[in-house]
Amino acid sequence: MKKMRVHHFAEMKARGEKITMLTAYDFPTAAIFDAAGVDMLLVGDSLGNAMLGLPTTIPVTLDQMVTATRAVSTGATRAFIVGDLPFGSYEASPAQCHASAVRLIKEGGASAVKFEGGAHLAEHVALLTRSGIPVVGHLGFTPQSENTLGGKRIQGRGDGAVEKLLADATSLQDAGAFAVVLEMVPAPVAAEVTAALRIPTIGIGAGVDCDGQVLVWTDIAGLGDWSPSFAKRYADIGAALQRAAEEYVAEVRSAAFPDPEHSFEK
Ligand code: KIV
Repeated sequence: MKKMRVHHFAEMKARGEKITMLTAYDFPTAAIFDAAGVDMLLVGDSLGNAMLGLPTTIPVTLDQMVTATRAVSTGATRAFIVGDLPFGSYEASPAQCHASAVRLIKEGGASAVKFEGGAHLAEHVALLTRSGIPVVGHLGFTPQSENTLGGKRIQGRGDGAVEKLLADATSLQDAGAFAVVLEMVPAPVAAEVTAALRIPTIGIGAGVDCDGQVLVWTDIAGLGDWSPSFAKRYADIGAALQRAAEEYVAEVRSAAFPDPEHSFEK
């Protein structure tokens, strides 16, 4: 199976072929999603909400991201691995961004990094790109800025918002980003940005006209008690896992497990 590389995503956009991306945070799910044919695995800082029980992504640390990225890159053979730079690990300067990105690449085994923000981070993108680190941008709703954005809100609405989004996306592209995530943007606005860019857009709550789609895996699998309205549930893993655990508890209590088949009798 041929490993996905940066140039494949540009070729997919040129052919009008949709790019698939899912988050992953550990070895077993990375292996499962890789086998399912997911093109890109995002080790998102949604690790905080999805796996660590945190209220937002803001407390997630670079060390936690390095550990998760290493597990995911070990589990996948075909998928392209993107590591997310967490809040506080890149904003201050291109040099800080470079140092953090190098950790996700060297220690985590990622092939690219993603970080949130627009034109003001163009220098960061340019330095990483020059240094051989592919970059995915992230525009629209950027969860690390939820304190300044006033909560989880749809972006790209209101006076000048579309122009600003287009300018930010173009600026990231011109600085060298090879793809950009558009989160919680009205579908017609995401379609306009997608048509304006040479690089692929990956939508999350941004309609069908993006070049690809990304979702948080626990949202599609029914793990956790809340998921956003734009995430479709394809399975109910939470209920299946609870049933398995309940059966195990009952069998241990009744001494039905371990049975001879699952014991060393001699
Ligand atoms: O951290 C994450 O999972 C993300 C996606 C929502 C795009 O950034």
